[in-house]
Amino acid sequence: MTKNKKSYSIIFIGAGRVAGHLSRALHDAGHRIIQVISRTEESARTLANVFGCAWDTDIAKMLPDPDLIIFAVRDDALQALIARMDVGEASVVHTGGSIPMSVFEGKARSYGVFYPLQTFSAGRTPDIRKIPMCIEANTSGNELMLMDLARQISDVVLRVDSTKRLTLHLAAIMINNFGNHLLVLAQEILRKEQLSLDLLRPLLEETVAKAFDLGPRKAQTGPAARNDKMVIKKHLDLLSCSPEIQRVYQVFTESIQHHMEKGK
Ligand SMILES: NC(=O)c1ccc[n+]([C@@H]2O[C@H](COP(=O)([O-])OP(=O)(O)OC[C@H]3O[C@@H](n4cnc5c(N)ncnc54)[C@H](OP(=O)(O)O)[C@@H]3O)[C@@H](O)[C@H]2O)c1
Repeated sequence: MTKNKKSYSIIFIGAGRVAGHLSRALHDAGHRIIQVISRTEESARTLANVFGCAWDTDIAKMLPDPDLIIFAVRDDALQALIARMDVGEASVVHTGGSIPMSVFEGKARSYGVFYPLQTFSAGRTPDIRKIPMCIEANTSGNELMLMDLARQISDVVLRVDSTKRLTLHLAAIMINNFGNHLLVLAQEILRKEQLSLDLLRPLLEETVAKAFDLGPRKAQTGPAARNDKMVIKKHLDLLSCSPEIQRVYQVFTESIQHHMEKGK
């Protein structure tokens, strides 16, 4: 931690993927994780043991007067937990992409959002310095504190309001969740001929690199973009035993052709 930087005392509510990554990064930046509260004893204790701090399963047992409370719980659990919290003067944030900051209104004086725009899974450690941190706060003082904290762990820190964050979240779901689902479907197709998904890795890497270099619209290739009806029919015939994947293929083909038309 740089000299003269304040070391914040931080409580995490939730001990899952985001809590695990953020708490380690903030701890490494010189802040003190003083308590972890989670639904089950096992996950609360496991994360708390990393820092040798207190843990609990009851939000009513939150330690008094932390500087910051970070909610990193499932989106559908957040509202009920906020209703039960008593945060005093502490600043409180959540880490969700689709939940408005106003969820804290009337429940805390100082509140905001600390949303890491990345996908987290157990056993994976994405480089936190490259993760865009989307910050929103209800006061300028609180915003300064959250922006400063975010800059200590990431090189990409943005001020993003709740509407823009929801838009970012939607786009993120499309490229990450939908993109990954296409890989699941591709693997299913390949398996029928005992072919490995690894064969597609160079193609996928070039697809991503090219989309960012040229722009995704310009980078679009393939039978749908060329309106090559013969190849499209062959693919649809091959998928006749997998009606669900066939439907996805058709929807994508129509969407690509619609966008090619629009772009003319
Ligand atoms: N995963 C991502 O890629 C990602 C990326 C950016 C933002 N986010 C956001 O970050 C937040 C957390 O997501 P996550 O992926 O870290 O979730 P997660 O891995 O499923 O972990 C959720 C944590 O919340 C705890 N929890 C659930 N209900 C609770 C309750 N009633 N009281 C206390 N703790 C409770 C769970 O406890 P137990 O373990 O004890 O069951 C678990 O530790 C969500 O808002 C999500 O949208 C996620």
